[in-house]
Amino acid sequence: MNWRQEGDELVIHCPGKVNLFLEIAGPRLDGYHDLITILQAVDLCDEMRLAPTAGGEILLSCDHPQVPLGPTNLVLRAAEAIRLFARSTTGVRISLRKVIPVGGGMGGGSSNAAGALLGLNRFWNLGLVRADLHRIAATLGSDVNFFLEGDTALCTGRGEKVQPLAPAWPLHFVLVFPGMSVPTVRAFQEAKKFLTPFLKDVRMPLKALEEKDFSLLAQSLFNRLEEPVFHLYPELAGLKRQLDSVAPGRVLLSGSGSSLFCLCSDPDEAAGVEEAARRLGLDAVRRVRSFC
Ligand code: C5P
Repeated sequence: MNWRQEGDELVIHCPGKVNLFLEIAGPRLDGYHDLITILQAVDLCDEMRLAPTAGGEILLSCDHPQVPLGPTNLVLRAAEAIRLFARSTTGVRISLRKVIPVGGGMGGGSSNAAGALLGLNRFWNLGLVRADLHRIAATLGSDVNFFLEGDTALCTGRGEKVQPLAPAWPLHFVLVFPGMSVPTVRAFQEAKKFLTPFLKDVRMPLKALEEKDFSLLAQSLFNRLEEPVFHLYPELAGLKRQLDSVAPGRVLLSGSGSSLFCLCSDPDEAAGVEEAARRLGLDAVRRVRSFC
């Protein structure tokens, strides 16, 4: 997460993510699922601005009409939670400019929540340590903890146990956002029909990352949610087939979708894939690098 001070405002860049690997280890008693997932932050960033207010309110505005501004909003929940934790009563005006597709499985809401925790800790001079922020993050959502660390990480438990990995060498992705959203809860419900006791081995993508082995990483791309989500939304399976014709074997659904990404070895290849995807008639296509 990057930030800069602009006058009395703190500006935070909140990156998106893709899941290079996602296996479901099994259902949990709390209704969630145990995950084994490798997350990679990508350089597609929302911009969050924190500005002082005269009163003690936490005010939020956003340029995207689909982002709810009520109490379910993760940024508001994060701000309320950190303020309560630190026993503060100071207000803030938060404005959010969305770039990460809303409902696209790229973790935008979680990244914004993590940005709010890191940013407000600084903006309000709360002096909370990383472990405190992680404790609060875990109450907000499964990916929020990842965004406190960023870069590349292996996440387990509900997703909230984050083991940072050495940042991947610059990876290049072509992202395709199909303009629809997949409710995460629906994806996991459907996944129950597709669970198997034979888990995909996470050691292969970990080795690929450690050894900077691009072809092994490409071979290791895996997402257990893909089959159930394609079952629910066959149009996404069709989109993957189209992209596969451009870059065979390197296209994957990110998280619970709906975004798909194509892993590319270098910027030139990514430019070629982007161009070919546009020729297929896909318009919401973005070329990004890993973020670190
Ligand atoms: O934690 P988050 O709010 O992002 O999760 C959204 C929904 O996705 C949860 O309510 C749950 O139904 C499902 N989920 C799950 N197991 C996880 C993460 C999410 O079943 N590890």
